[in-house]
Amino acid sequence: MKRLAGKRALVTGAARGIGLAIAAAYLREGAGVALADIDIARAGRAAEELGPGAQALHLDVTDQASIEAAMAELAADGGLDILVNNAALFDAAPVVEITRSSYERLFAVNVAGALFTLQAAAKLMIAQGRGGRIINMASQAGRRGEALVAVYCATKAAVISLTQSAGLDLIRHRINVNAIAPGVVEGEHWDGVDALFAKYEGLPPGEKKRRVGAAVPYGRMGRAEDLTGMAVFLASAEADYIVAQTYNVDGGNWMS
Ligand SMILES: NC(=O)c1ccc[n+]([C@@H]2O[C@H](COP(=O)([O-])OP(=O)(O)OC[C@H]3O[C@@H](n4cnc5c(N)ncnc54)[C@H](O)[C@@H]3O)[C@@H](O)[C@H]2O)c1
Repeated sequence: MKRLAGKRALVTGAARGIGLAIAAAYLREGAGVALADIDIARAGRAAEELGPGAQALHLDVTDQASIEAAMAELAADGGLDILVNNAALFDAAPVVEITRSSYERLFAVNVAGALFTLQAAAKLMIAQGRGGRIINMASQAGRRGEALVAVYCATKAAVISLTQSAGLDLIRHRINVNAIAPGVVEGEHWDGVDALFAKYEGLPPGEKKRRVGAAVPYGRMGRAEDLTGMAVFLASAEADYIVAQTYNVDGGNWMS
């Protein structure tokens, strides 16, 4: 029995990385999935490769009109049962070099983007009257600060906090809001992180990645597929009584 049979899911930032892996896992579990991304060309190719049940959707989570257009499209086509709020940006810099534009960009996507996508999804789910699931992608970065990563860490701490407040507010509509906190996950995102650490810590390319991978208690960096089990579980009927929580899926990197 497929665990998400008949459900309709929207995954933001699904053109690549963790979002794409979760979209594929949801499809395997019987859901119809909209792969939403600002990179619509890549989301389109990904949806085509995934095959029937997958569709690409243009979405810029920083643009309210774009969020509302995406929700209207979903409403007209079977509705929405599961939102995975996954799109995010990363940046790093010593505190004295943080720029206002980097701060605004990261908060616009990672915090305002997550909140207003969640809000629009919740409105649609409430109107449908069949409950729903919202899964926010937090990070181990939201669990504690990091010397070079002040802004990104603050955005992910905000995601954990929003998960708690929205979870408490929306459960009366039978909408469960929870979050996943990945640790360090291989992929294009981390290639960018590695390049920033190479710059600020004077490391050769690839060295930061090697070090963080070696430091994971499990013995390696995460892979996007490592996040899919929790993402399916939180979207499934088995997670019905789970509200406002953030789960670490990080090979043992963080305990709280
Ligand atoms: N990779 C890691 O090590 C790691 C660790 C902890 C948490 N996370 C979190 O997991 C999530 C996915 O990470 P990833 O590694 O797959 O990232 P990624 O950078 O590979 O993918 C992010 C996707 O979001 C899309 N995106 C960016 N801005 C957008 C916008 N305004 N509107 C819509 N889409 C937009 C990008 O086009 C991209 O496809 C993020 O929330 C990230 O913060 C990642």
